[in-house]
Amino acid sequence: MRVLGIETSCDDTSAAVVEDGRLRSNVVSSQTEVHRPFRGVVPELASRAHLANLIPVIRRALKEAGPGRVDAVAYTRGPGLMGPLLVGKVAGQTLARLYGVPAVGVNHLEGHVLAAELEHRLRWPLAALVVSGGHTDLVLAKAPGRYRVLGRTLDDAAGEAYDKVARLFGLGYPGGPEIDRLASEGDPRAVAFPRPTTPGRWDFSFSGLKTAVLYHLRDNPGPVEGRRLADLCASFQEAVVETLVDRALAAARKFKVRDVVLGGGVAANSRLRASMTERGRALGLAVRLPSRVLCTDNAAMVAHVGWRMLKAGRVPRTGKADPGLALRSWS
Ligand code: KG4
Ligand code: ZN
Repeated sequence: MRVLGIETSCDDTSAAVVEDGRLRSNVVSSQTEVHRPFRGVVPELASRAHLANLIPVIRRALKEAGPGRVDAVAYTRGPGLMGPLLVGKVAGQTLARLYGVPAVGVNHLEGHVLAAELEHRLRWPLAALVVSGGHTDLVLAKAPGRYRVLGRTLDDAAGEAYDKVARLFGLGYPGGPEIDRLASEGDPRAVAFPRPTTPGRWDFSFSGLKTAVLYHLRDNPGPVEGRRLADLCASFQEAVVETLVDRALAAARKFKVRDVVLGGGVAANSRLRASMTERGRALGLAVRLPSRVLCTDNAAMVAHVGWRMLKAGRVPRTGKADPGLALRSWS
């Protein structure tokens, strides 16, 4: 079964073709340049850019996939920004109508959980950590479509913390990739930032860490550049990564899973990838990392979830766009 996927929930316009769990094409057109002057995603500009980009992106994805009939169209129905979601939904439903095939509204977060399956054979149940600009969710996934969210962030998402702290350091937008790059030159033990905890719960909290960075800069004035900047990036990153890895691996052990998967933009982070893999291996756990393009927002994961739902005969009753959609089991 060949599924065309469409992803427009935030600031990446993407279309992909996935055939029975195998990736045929995945085209991503990033709007970073549109939003950079505003240091964040401007919803109205995002909607307009999706409108302008989506048809060419879909054409390219279909062309790169090679000849073959599309059997279904999957689009992201939430969570995300309402305007951008509507662009993808209308395009997906219209194309499905034209092709005479089913349209499937997909949960973006489920896409991040299942993205690893496009490149790895997963052993269920598994623990999934979805870390992006909008989410930090620790999930126990019993099978495709059966999820229990163990914990989530109580304040800032991990990617949001990266982006906000990058701003404090005077770096550009988005800050995550820049901190990642600079941190590789720095000493992670240079500054002892707090490891935020939420005792007795699986939740996360990153706003205290962000404040700690702010106070550190206030109490230690002077230019943030060169060696000092690299050390600050490495120290901040170490605090985030250690917190994420501690929690994810503790959950994996507690619920006796064998596989841990990562998803979301922050899963592209080199230190998180290395640390989770090494520390997981030491505990006998297999850490399944999607390649970086499948961590950040992409339509391949959306097409893949659509295929999983169709295969199981569990197409959701509603295809409505829902900006606040939570990760839930298939009903
Ligand atoms: O999943 P994603 O592409 O979009 C959302 O659904 O939010 O994630 C974007 C987030 C941004 O906050 C960005 O700074 C962060 O992922 N990010 C990174 C890296 N690449 C992207 N954070 C840390 N290290 C990276 N290499
Ligand atoms: Zn995402």
